[in-house]
Amino acid sequence: MAAASFACSGSGSESRGPGLSETPGPSGPAGQSGRDGVDGRDGRDGYGGTATVALSKRAIRGFEITPVRLAIHTSTDTSTIGADTSEGAGTSTSAALLATEELERIGYGSYLVNAASDCAACHGMGMGMEATGYLSGGTPFSLGGDMVVYSRNLTPDAATGMMLTEEQFIRTMRTGEDPRNPGEILLVMPWPAYRWMSDHDLRAIYAYLRAIPAARNEVPDDMKGPAAMFEPVPFPETYDEGDVERRLPDPESPDEDFVRRGYAINPLEESEELRSADASTQKEFGRGSYLVNAVSACNECHGNPARDLTPGDNFLHVNTANYLTGGEVFDTPPPLQATFRQVRSMSANLTGAENGFDGTLLDFLTIIEEGVAPEAGSDGELALDPVAWPMPWPMFRHMILEDLVSIYTFVTLTPRRTGDADKRTQEEARYCTTDTDCDGDGGETCVTASSECVGGACGDAGDCGACQTCEGGLCAVTSTTSSCFVEGL
Ligand code: HEC
Ligand code: HEC
Repeated sequence: MAAASFACSGSGSESRGPGLSETPGPSGPAGQSGRDGVDGRDGRDGYGGTATVALSKRAIRGFEITPVRLAIHTSTDTSTIGADTSEGAGTSTSAALLATEELERIGYGSYLVNAASDCAACHGMGMGMEATGYLSGGTPFSLGGDMVVYSRNLTPDAATGMMLTEEQFIRTMRTGEDPRNPGEILLVMPWPAYRWMSDHDLRAIYAYLRAIPAARNEVPDDMKGPAAMFEPVPFPETYDEGDVERRLPDPESPDEDFVRRGYAINPLEESEELRSADASTQKEFGRGSYLVNAVSACNECHGNPARDLTPGDNFLHVNTANYLTGGEVFDTPPPLQATFRQVRSMSANLTGAENGFDGTLLDFLTIIEEGVAPEAGSDGELALDPVAWPMPWPMFRHMILEDLVSIYTFVTLTPRRTGDADKRTQEEARYCTTDTDCDGDGGETCVTASSECVGGACGDAGDCGACQTCEGGLCAVTSTTSSCFVEGL
């Protein structure tokens, strides 16, 4: 991924703000030497140098990781953006950088889109999904039968892109209303989580989506069938989807890192352990809750079913009994099977008392940053097991350490789920074309009908691939129509 051309030399830019609350972190944008805390003084930074503006560390990370060039100048001529490294500062031909607040919004929006969530997985160019380009949409999602919806083009292309004003965008994210089909809702888009983001964050995402390059891609019409009956859900004053109803913090009062908002949108009651934790742990918990429950939408994959979808009063309520206990099954799209060496995966149990994630912070960071889970093998040796698709670790690994630590704190301080909800989830079913692709510990073989490895030794189904069963001590695929294949665990 190319770093964004934020380091815009010769721009004669002004950096106006007194700076946002945070000083730039140790790593400055794109090869810059990172001058801490120089706020708003030096408008021009010399030849081949860079404008120094006081951006938050998340915004700086956002500029570092954006895979596309961004429109960050006041000029409307996008062809000049960031491309210019030869001209001196302050020449009359080069456009000025946008005001600091606007840059902050765009950079921070990039952080939200490219690190803390994973819009591109569905809206294009994510993890090899067939798509025409970055965030330009068109990926089909089958809803069974003839029903299919397509992710939309979120780029600012005048003919085929996102046409929404900021206000309309926020309304879409908050109520799920489908801009193309007013009165209906978006069915695949995880807006039931995103709707809890702050106005501040939704605006930042919008600013980023306006700054990415336009890409022409006409997205086909959806065929929603009977699912067209669902109506947009007015955004409530209180968080009312969990075990406890809580007031959302007043958007006008300060809420650093949306810690208070995170507390409000935690679907479970707070534990004793949390109440007696020290202040910094409590802060991490709130920040982690904000990320997990709004921005990163973890439970939309790690809860099965994540929400109550029967029309009525409980529509969209989180199934709190099995909150984050995994068990959703994902068929790997055929073009990705050979690359990821899997045909099917199942989201992991993160909060079960017996079967949930109980790793250390270091284990968690290894999973997110390297995409491998440290696991003790049967011989007691530590093995590194690749984390299966579609867990968005390739995006999440771009989060700043502070945010990853907060997520870990939230997940591990979430009260453990017990009983039937404490699912023994399964690892991915591995892809193969011949027996030699499987050659595991104990004479595994390839079932060519479904291209997956079976025959490994097992004590129970939990030792086998997603939706496989344990028959006489060996993993097997008995029927691909069992409830697991349809509904997951
Ligand atoms: C799980 C897949 C998925 C993810 C993740 C996802 N979207 Fe979507 N999105 C869709 C699909 C599919 C549609 C349209 C059809 C539907 O959902 O019924 C859509 C529609 C939209 C629309 C409506 C646009 C219009 O003009 O019609 C917006 C806005 C949007 N998404 C923004 C986002 C943003 C921002 C993110 C990341 C924070 C995101 N989406 C993440 C699948 C996804
Ligand atoms: C798009 C769906 C999706 C989203 C969103 C998602 N996950 Fe996952 N996650 C998965 C799948 C599938 C697996 C199982 C991977 C495997 O079998 O190797 C997984 C595995 C994991 C694991 C590894 C557990 C282990 O013991 O090996 C952790 C930890 C995890 N997810 C945490 C999270 C957190 C925290 C979030 C939100 C910040 C999140 N996930 C969001 C799909 C998702």
